[in-house]
Amino acid sequence: MAIMAKLIFSIVTLVILSVFVTAEKPQLLATFSNGTPVYGLAVLKNNLIAVSRENSGKLQLYNVAINGLFTELNSVDMARSDSYYDMAYLNKSEQFVLLNWLDSNKIILMQSRFPYEVKSWNFTSDTTMASLAVTESDQTIIVTEGMSKQVKIYDPSGKLLRTIKLQMARSPRQAIRLSNNLYAVTAGYETTESHLVCRFNVKGYVVGRCFGGRPGNSINQLNVPARMVLLNDGSVLLADMKNSRILKLNKDLSSAEIFLGASDGIHQPYRLYADESKRILYVADNTLDPVTSYAVSGRVIAFRY
Ligand SMILES: *[C@@H]1O[C@H](CO)[C@@H](O)[C@H](O)[C@H]1NC(C)=O
Ligand SMILES: *[C@@H]1O[C@H](CO)[C@@H](O)[C@H](O)[C@H]1NC(C)=O
Repeated sequence: MAIMAKLIFSIVTLVILSVFVTAEKPQLLATFSNGTPVYGLAVLKNNLIAVSRENSGKLQLYNVAINGLFTELNSVDMARSDSYYDMAYLNKSEQFVLLNWLDSNKIILMQSRFPYEVKSWNFTSDTTMASLAVTESDQTIIVTEGMSKQVKIYDPSGKLLRTIKLQMARSPRQAIRLSNNLYAVTAGYETTESHLVCRFNVKGYVVGRCFGGRPGNSINQLNVPARMVLLNDGSVLLADMKNSRILKLNKDLSSAEIFLGASDGIHQPYRLYADESKRILYVADNTLDPVTSYAVSGRVIAFRY
């Protein structure tokens, strides 16, 4: 009798566990590619995404349907020939920001209902690699400048609130704000010897230990850490580009687990975005020409998790 009860208990536990594990695993929702590299992407309301593609001078709006299709709804002519290297959504004002560092060092604020430019400003006078992020709690805009190793924080109207000079040897790639007023910053390029994610305080100093070190593919190493997304529980999703995986780092960036890997169709992921509810993750990657290293085509893959 006791053995029977134990057996039933084990089976029930196993069933519950497998349901739980299945629910945890992100599900592929849609894949989208039309041959040209994808630069910025912003996840707007109601399954809408805005995509900036290479040198098209256009922003395209897509609906991501449950049936796995991306449907193009609208395309906005920016009346410029350049592309927007980063985008982010401000959900309170239903606006999105675009950043262009290659041609103009400009940030443009767009209304997202019928997209039009609300205002724009220059974030630097130097040409510098830069990236964008938005902090949802206060809708601040975070601009990370690679060459000058600075992070600039703007309010949603474009007013500069703070400049953080990062005390680091290498160029940062992206900063996002964590809780406790700390920032997670990625650094590490093909040619550099440390590939890290570190936490910085508002004075620009590293707090605690960084995750990563020399480039590699073990679970505590990175190989070209790119963009991040903060989840509601404080953990961080990170595109570990050259390892073709998305890692989930714990709150203090001291350990990681593989969230999505090559077997899920991940190949050299670069940009990551989540929708407002944090239920859909968008992974953008570009295929590089082996000789010139220029991006030749791009994809967006959406997962429900
Ligand atoms: C914006 O998103 C945040 C985070 O998901 C949410 O807490 C907040 O209520 C949203 N604000 C609006 C106006 O939708
Ligand atoms: C902004 O940058 C552009 C391109 O670098 C430059 O032509 C323009 O004068 C700048 N505008 C301001 C207000 O500094």
